[in-house]
Amino acid sequence: MRSMITADPATNDARTTQGQPDHAPPSDRRTRTRSAVVRRVSMAACLFVAACGGAEDSGDPEPTAWKDMSFEQRVTYMNSDVLPRMKEVFVAYDPAFETMDCTTCHGADGATRAYAMPSPAIAVLPDTEEGFLEYVQDPEHPERAEWSTFMFEKVVPEMASLLQRVQYDPTTGNGDFSCNNCHTLGSVKP
Ligand code: HEC
Ligand code: HEC
Repeated sequence: MRSMITADPATNDARTTQGQPDHAPPSDRRTRTRSAVVRRVSMAACLFVAACGGAEDSGDPEPTAWKDMSFEQRVTYMNSDVLPRMKEVFVAYDPAFETMDCTTCHGADGATRAYAMPSPAIAVLPDTEEGFLEYVQDPEHPERAEWSTFMFEKVVPEMASLLQRVQYDPTTGNGDFSCNNCHTLGSVKP
């Protein structure tokens, strides 16, 4: 079976799929919004493989495009652009991320692993839609839905944009950047 972990790093034109409304609605609406989001998150996490044809999409020929950077240029860009911007995004979610650095995404051994992604240092996510729905709605882990919504609405779009890639949109099948570009997928015990 083809795994999402081995997703082809094809690039696309940068586009954003943002425009999410602020959410502090009454609790019943919040619940409905939440479960709709959880379903979309789940699809993004699990149906990504359908969108991953391995095609050679031609990205916009930008002078400093991520895909054309050397390894050294990528290190520089991660320092100058990615880390500062992603730190802002994470700190807005939880001030504890003020100490965010390369290891938050790449792990303590990131440098020795040549910063290969996905990262074994962060949570393994379930590799099936059923598994993901269970995982994210586990009553013993109410924080997982919050985390996943934050990831889907903020982290994935921002990271995709920084890398001039397109967030995978489960409703259209467009894009190829998703959860599995950072998280490994596998079987996850409840
Ligand atoms: C918010 C998460 C995040 C943080 C923080 C982060 N990175 Fe990355 N990094 C990524 C992702 C995602 C990729 C993979 C991009 C892709 O799919 O091509 C990546 C890729 C890389 C690559 C390219 C690896 C390759 O195979 O070409 C290097 C080098 C790198 N990061 C270095 C760093 C350094 C150095 C820091 C700290 C200054 C850092 N990263 C911080 C998410 C992060
Ligand atoms: C740019 C990299 C990146 C992408 C893309 C990403 N995540 Fe994350 N995610 C992280 C990092 C880093 C953490 C760990 C934060 C910490 O140190 O606690 C995390 C944590 C989580 C957690 C909390 C796990 C726990 O420890 O309980 C969940 C759940 C999660 N992510 C789900 C997702 C989902 C679902 C997607 C796709 C919609 C996604 N993530 C996309 C980087 C990423």
